[in-house]
Amino acid sequence: MFLFRFILLGVLHVSSAFSERSSYVVHTAVTTMTSAEKFKWYESSVKSISASGEVLYKYNHAINGFSARLTPEEVELLSGKPGILAVVPEVVYKLETTRTPTFLGLGDNVDGEDLRHNGSASDVIVGVIDSGIWPESKSFNDIGFGPVPISWKGECEEGMNFTASLCNRKLIGARFFLKGFEAEMGPINQSDDFRSPRDSLGHGTHTSSIAAGSAVKEAAFLGYAAGVARGMAPLARIAMYKACWLGGFCVSSDVLAAIDKAMEDNVNILSLSLALNRLDYDKDSIAIGALAATEHGVFVAAAGGNDGPTSSSLANVAPWLTTVGAGTLDRKFPATIILGNGKVFPGESLLFQGNGLPDEMLPIVYHRFGKEVEGSIVLDDLRFYDNEVRQSKNGKEPLGMIYANMVFDGTELVATYAQSPSAVVGKEIGDEIRHYVITESNPTATIKFNGTVIGYKPSPMVAGFSSRGPNSITPEILKPDLIAPGVNILAAWIGVKGPDSEFNIKSGTSMACPHVSGIAALLKAAHPEWSPAAIRSAMMTTAKTSSNDGKPILDSATGKPSTPFAHGAGQVSPVSAFKPGLIYDLTAMDYLHFLCASNYTSSQIKIITRIEFSCDRSKEYRISELNYPSFAVTINRGGGGAYTYTRIVTSVGGAGTYTVKVMSDVKAVNISVEPAVLDFNNVNEKRSYSVIFTVNPSMPSGTNSFGSIEWSDGKHLVRSPVALTWT
Ligand SMILES: *[C@@H]1O[C@H](CO)[C@@H](O)[C@H](O)[C@H]1NC(C)=O
Ligand SMILES: *[C@@H]1O[C@H](CO)[C@@H](O)[C@H](O)[C@H]1NC(C)=O
Ligand SMILES: *[C@@H]1O[C@H](CO)[C@@H](O)[C@H](O)[C@H]1NC(C)=O
Ligand SMILES: *[C@@H]1O[C@H](CO)[C@@H](O)[C@H](O)[C@H]1NC(C)=O
Ligand SMILES: *[C@@H]1O[C@H](CO)[C@@H](O)[C@H](O)[C@H]1NC(C)=O
Ligand SMILES: *[C@@H]1O[C@H](CO)[C@@H](O)[C@H](O)[C@H]1NC(C)=O
Repeated sequence: MFLFRFILLGVLHVSSAFSERSSYVVHTAVTTMTSAEKFKWYESSVKSISASGEVLYKYNHAINGFSARLTPEEVELLSGKPGILAVVPEVVYKLETTRTPTFLGLGDNVDGEDLRHNGSASDVIVGVIDSGIWPESKSFNDIGFGPVPISWKGECEEGMNFTASLCNRKLIGARFFLKGFEAEMGPINQSDDFRSPRDSLGHGTHTSSIAAGSAVKEAAFLGYAAGVARGMAPLARIAMYKACWLGGFCVSSDVLAAIDKAMEDNVNILSLSLALNRLDYDKDSIAIGALAATEHGVFVAAAGGNDGPTSSSLANVAPWLTTVGAGTLDRKFPATIILGNGKVFPGESLLFQGNGLPDEMLPIVYHRFGKEVEGSIVLDDLRFYDNEVRQSKNGKEPLGMIYANMVFDGTELVATYAQSPSAVVGKEIGDEIRHYVITESNPTATIKFNGTVIGYKPSPMVAGFSSRGPNSITPEILKPDLIAPGVNILAAWIGVKGPDSEFNIKSGTSMACPHVSGIAALLKAAHPEWSPAAIRSAMMTTAKTSSNDGKPILDSATGKPSTPFAHGAGQVSPVSAFKPGLIYDLTAMDYLHFLCASNYTSSQIKIITRIEFSCDRSKEYRISELNYPSFAVTINRGGGGAYTYTRIVTSVGGAGTYTVKVMSDVKAVNISVEPAVLDFNNVNEKRSYSVIFTVNPSMPSGTNSFGSIEWSDGKHLVRSPVALTWT
């Protein structure tokens, strides 16, 4: 229902009358003014072009500039004014766990506990930009927590059904940003959402608890997936910045305001489970805000999006963001479908309350033919799970449901809540069941449910829905960076809507992202001196590329081994990330050089970085020199010869001699590394090396070839994925 309303509004927006106002993010030139002077300037700039023009937000950290409601005529007037760099139309981003800590190696075992208590974990603050939070959830209890970190400057804002006393030593702050949303969509209907940090969607409650939820014993959803629920960093503090509203929509002026405040409040980690793909960096408020935050020392993780398995579908691809894809867990809810003709098919159970189906075979009807459903199992083509429309004309429920995937979802099996005993099957099996139901005169079936099964092999697999590379904005930077669990994740839920449970099971890169945010909080606690790039490097170079059966991670969209365009460096492996041996570090200056190499104009660079910087015309900047922990090479039509990439590694593990090992398909490329041995005498020493990719010019256009570059001193394995594309 919410979705529908938004689609309508979207249409209205596009066809809006000539002088209707809409929202713009206005980037201004760099000045030496104080914030108070700047804010005055912003107000007067708007007043000078329009008596009734309204400033939404004045930004202080994330960008130099403000957002405002303007007509197209006013945009033109404002754009011509001195000091105005760009007036960018607002965009709309979309929001895109008991078992996960153990699956990732952070279990109840001593090692896991050890890691969690090392360093000053409770001084790390994870800021989550999302749909709000349900503060009463047990996942946000603050039992045993000391006072809030002295670095914290944030607040617990009051609003509808939310008082400041709802924050505690776990949930240390909560704010909400709705000026942009309301300006575009009209006032929020109080029966639809809370005008406060309180979550009405569940999404923000879920993601926050995945990142840093306190341990809750005996968490379960309708009896499934029972166990201890806790976040990745159970000792870290949470600050919620609600910028996403009903329908899961987050407008850029609000998102930017959230990042701006989070920086001012001194969060250490920012988790953004929201995305919009194919946005150039200078038009992308997440990219721009995240760069400012990164320069401020904040680690920023973002969801890669749920638009897979289409290639180049990734969002949040800027090299200063950590881009997270989704993988499966080793936990399944198997179901077995038995047809009247004796055929038996594996499926996955949806999560329902109560008993399964009776033992006997039941009639099965195809929903598409609109038959009476009472007393039957209903077979339905899966477009989206919907529990409301599956009733017979007399209002009776079907006994059970089989959802069969269509082409789009392939073999992917994602569990969700259902009102009646239900199973989902992949497309191929779905076709067989469809054929049986259509051709048989009296088709019958039953479903057997196996409950929760743990230790499923192989896992992880890359989720079919997880967005894929190559990077559509900068093909020379490999994305996603890594994957984390994002399928059937149990985590905290809200207390009002949906199934009546304190926990819920959800899937998406939205769920994968906060796993990485939480692990980044653990790393930050153990290594406070590490930069955001160092933290990402540690996670990437130690990521796992094989699943729990020892074989390469599979892609659930194809059933074949997944590539770095699906899994990046692999699945995050927190225990090894604590001791990466070497790291690839990056500074603000490196990102400036990257922007020069990407041919951004100095005005675009000002917009993205908030600083006055001119690329040196006499210098040849190369994206291949950005010190990234992975390698992507694009070979242009007919291009052969050698491509050279340079890297600098810092030894965080101290003295050691590292030797290199490369893997590639020699028909497509030979990779040589110089020097092939790196000697370190002390901790934090740096060494540089070059990689020369000698490519076969006659590979057909569209070919991809993958490999890896691994450094090892016998104790640490520092692995970088390699992806080559012939265009
Ligand atoms: C955590 O702290 C313990 C005790 O000080 C130490 O033995 C262990 O090596 C540390 N672990 C990490 C990953 O730093
Ligand atoms: C919100 O507050 C109103 C007014 O006090 C109350 O009626 C309502 O039940 C509250 N809603 C929730 C979900 O707590
Ligand atoms: C708010 O939502 C309720 C329930 O959906 C509806 O009855 C009411 O008319 C809405 N109010 C406004 C102002 O749209
Ligand atoms: C489910 O349970 C049945 C027996 O009840 C068993 O034969 C089958 O192998 C189980 N399937 C899975 C995937 O565990
Ligand atoms: C930038 O421009 C130079 C010179 O025109 C060109 O060689 C290079 O490929 C461009 N780089 C990108 C990333 O577009
Ligand atoms: C890589 O080296 C091998 C052995 O020298 C050679 O046979 C092959 O053609 C080379 N491949 C490319 C792409 O140059």
